[in-house]
Amino acid sequence: MARIVRLVLWLALAANLVGVPALAESTQEVVAKAPNGLAQTPPMGWNSWNKFACNVNEQTVRETADAMAASGMRDAGYQYVVIDDCWQGPRSADGFITADPQKFPSGIKALADYVHSKGLKFGIYSDAGRLTCGGRPGSQGHEYQDALTYARWGADYLKYDWCSTGDRNAQEAYAVMADALRASGRAIVFSMCEWGTAKPWLWAKNTGNSWRTTGDIADDFDTPHKGREWEHPVTTIVDLNEPLWSYAGPGHWNDADMLEVGNGGMTPAEYRSHFSLWAMMASPLIAGNDVAHMDETTRSILLNREVIAVDQDPLGNQGHRVAKDGNSEVWVKALTGGGMAVLLFNRGATPATIRATAEQIGWPAGAHARVRDVWAHKDVGRSAASIQTTVEPHGVAMFIVQP
Ligand code: GLA
Repeated sequence: MARIVRLVLWLALAANLVGVPALAESTQEVVAKAPNGLAQTPPMGWNSWNKFACNVNEQTVRETADAMAASGMRDAGYQYVVIDDCWQGPRSADGFITADPQKFPSGIKALADYVHSKGLKFGIYSDAGRLTCGGRPGSQGHEYQDALTYARWGADYLKYDWCSTGDRNAQEAYAVMADALRASGRAIVFSMCEWGTAKPWLWAKNTGNSWRTTGDIADDFDTPHKGREWEHPVTTIVDLNEPLWSYAGPGHWNDADMLEVGNGGMTPAEYRSHFSLWAMMASPLIAGNDVAHMDETTRSILLNREVIAVDQDPLGNQGHRVAKDGNSEVWVKALTGGGMAVLLFNRGATPATIRATAEQIGWPAGAHARVRDVWAHKDVGRSAASIQTTVEPHGVAMFIVQP
């Protein structure tokens, strides 16, 4: 009898030993997953929050999808139509999330189908805590159930916020949802919205496809603390996001937050700066305006394909500031094919003459270059690659330099 017990014990031990390497591998996987292969260039699309906040409904989303197709935005690369906070109703008795029946009477699946019928992709929002920032049910404790629900509805993108998370560990919380999205079997871009609190650029490369690096954007150029204390004007976001340039690359981007272009708080020059800086920083370009009713100025900014091409350059380099002299700044972004995007940025309230030297641009001394102005849509000739021009207040001049 004792011999049989010993044999059973030995067999159990042997089975365990065989199991050890497999266990070790799966433990490792938690900290270093393979990337999901999505968002090889920064995601582009539209999100409801900056303009509509909690007043979003299915009519608005449908009209926006229509306008994205009709205005040329879809064809310029804006793909994802994302409903932000406040779409949720209560959870059902068995824990499944439902849509707010007043705002989304046809349900989310029908809306996703509509968005897809326009040749666009569909995105949705949730939160790693018990409640979203708008006080709707969050995904904590329901991650797998929610990921499966979004997948069955046809979601292609999830923005995942960080309100009401208590003492949750961000790395762990985002890994759970990343796993749940993988397990859903659908290709879903994972947009992390943790505001940079736990420095996601240090650990989220294979967890999410992008991570917010700051609090929320305000529709303002440079007034600090104009709105609520967690909101930042464009220049503050730029200064927080710029130093993180080395952490971005294909599939994993620093997200400087959604665009305010067209929302009315900034001048056209300021919106051009906002848009150009986001492109230089390879940030996701997620329009946040009323696309169905935008004016021609807004349209001309959001649809500047030459600026969009800088953002979407397949090399996936995040540009950065190479020179600063008071309010005058020079930024560069390396492009595929040996080109460079060069941005002259005037933060001041008076016109400034700004010069980028060949050295700052990283151009070999004396080597000739073709230079194109991407706001004037003009070739400005060949030069030895130093660029100088007068830049309007709060404005930019932006160039592509090519061999
Ligand atoms: C947070 C996010 C915003 C938006 C709101 C919604 O503030 O950072 O982008 O999603 O929540 O409540």
